[in-house]
Amino acid sequence: MTTTTPLRLLVIPASAREGSLNRRLAACAAAMARADGIDVHVLDLRALALPVYDGDLEAAEGVPAGALELQRAVLAADALLVVTPEYNGFPTPLFVNAFDWLSRIPATEANPSGLAATAERPVALLSASPGPAGGLRSMNFVRQYLQMAFAMLVVPQQFALGRAHEAFDAQGGLKEPRAAQAVQGVVQSLARLALRLRAPG
Ligand SMILES: Cc1cc2nc3c(=O)[nH]c(=O)nc-3n(C[C@H](O)[C@H](O)[C@H](O)COP(=O)(O)O)c2cc1C
Repeated sequence: MTTTTPLRLLVIPASAREGSLNRRLAACAAAMARADGIDVHVLDLRALALPVYDGDLEAAEGVPAGALELQRAVLAADALLVVTPEYNGFPTPLFVNAFDWLSRIPATEANPSGLAATAERPVALLSASPGPAGGLRSMNFVRQYLQMAFAMLVVPQQFALGRAHEAFDAQGGLKEPRAAQAVQGVVQSLARLALRLRAPG
């Protein structure tokens, strides 16, 4: 399929902290995607300033503005790339809280529901951890969460970067060619699926 409009990729690091290994991995993947001609936006989940989900808050004030901002970013993307740490075998509260809020956005005449925004949208997963398994368990929960609750199309290819604190060179690139190839492979699989799904024209 040929197209002149670049694919739009939303990269979501699920850790926002200064020096985050997952943010570094997300930056590598974003650079690879840009080199392939993809239009990349990296989202800062912390900047959404979302409170911990609270049904009473929702009843009193509705869904926070940050959730609508996340929805706008999702709607503006052909594909998502989530780069997740592992906290006790699980994804981060930062990520799950943001997507839980997203799932609470109701449909209006002007705006689709949060779940309508994610449905049938392709997404790929990466993770990084100083541990040897690189956050694999967390990534598998994210896969299930996004598939089952958000009806997203999670590409089969994924990559967990182990020993991530030793994995980057001074320029922020991945030292190990095999790791770089694995990240590139995930990005390219995602791009192929997104291109297939994108309506012609
Ligand atoms: C609450 C908590 C739980 C953690 N549990 C795990 C774990 O189950 N597996 C693992 O590989 N690393 C675990 N870690 C270590 C993280 O992988 C490490 O802090 C990592 O650098 C976090 O990602 P970031 O650098 O992108 O912020 C945990 C860290 C925290 C703070």
